[in-house]
Amino acid sequence: MPQIVRTVPALRRALDPFRRKQQPIALVPTMGALHAGHLELVRQARRRARRVVVSIFVNPTQFAPHEDFSTYPRTLPADVKALAALGVDLIWAPSAAVMYPEGFATRVAPEGPALAGLEDKYRPHFFGGVATVVTKLFTQCRPDIAIFGQKDYQQLCVVTRLARDLDLGVKVVGIPTVRESDGLALSSRNLYLSADERRIAPTLSRVLRDCARGIKAGKPISGLLASGRNTITKAGFALDYLEARNAQTLAPVRSRTDGPIRLLVAAKIGKTRLIDNRGV
Ligand code: PAJ
Repeated sequence: MPQIVRTVPALRRALDPFRRKQQPIALVPTMGALHAGHLELVRQARRRARRVVVSIFVNPTQFAPHEDFSTYPRTLPADVKALAALGVDLIWAPSAAVMYPEGFATRVAPEGPALAGLEDKYRPHFFGGVATVVTKLFTQCRPDIAIFGQKDYQQLCVVTRLARDLDLGVKVVGIPTVRESDGLALSSRNLYLSADERRIAPTLSRVLRDCARGIKAGKPISGLLASGRNTITKAGFALDYLEARNAQTLAPVRSRTDGPIRLLVAAKIGKTRLIDNRGV
């Protein structure tokens, strides 16, 4: 069984022997409710480092007051079992009081990709909360590499930039999105979908695929996006955005010559907000 540690001194004590033996450490940050997407990140971590630490912390500072912090799924016993089966060395599961003790007064405010007008526009709290907690996770665990999913593509860009900008000495690795057989990206929030909503949900990945094909075939991007937006809305979603951006900077692109393109989408079906993205 992996060791579960809940305080910073206990974490230091648990990591010290790995460091003394100069065993490379990979960190996989999560909020728990682990599904096959998270477990793929863990497998990739195992392949890349001798020691694997998985953090499980539902981070209050990245949720807005109206969002689902209190109802976010918490499944620690099942998570621990799944991580044990994958040979994880350590689970870092601090309480909110350990992560944000009385008097906590420091925040990391990311710019650049964190202000691209995508998730940040609809969840203005989000990247400040993510950047602050990820900086803390990196300084607490001091991993050699950290594994993130491409599923949260803007987050991956923000964290990559953050690790460089703050000289955290962590190599950030992005892993392709794990999907259901009908294309729906695995997400803890898929648990919220009704049967009807679940049936409609793969529209997002289908639209991304069709837009990517159209762009590769040389069709104008703006027309493809307009038709994609229409398809998503007609399927019953409330669309937040469907955009084509530069895959590194997330700056808007008008044609294929503006660099490698990433398509990004976010839309609400009923009460559930889904995001997805794909390269071109
Ligand atoms: P969480 O939503 O639990 O996701 C943890 C990691 O799993 C993220 O890097 C995310 O991109 C990845 N992931 C989620 N679904 C995936 C899928 N279908 N395929 C591949 N990877 C997937 O993202 C967070 O937590 C938090 O913001 C966190 C970084 C932990 C900071 O609190």
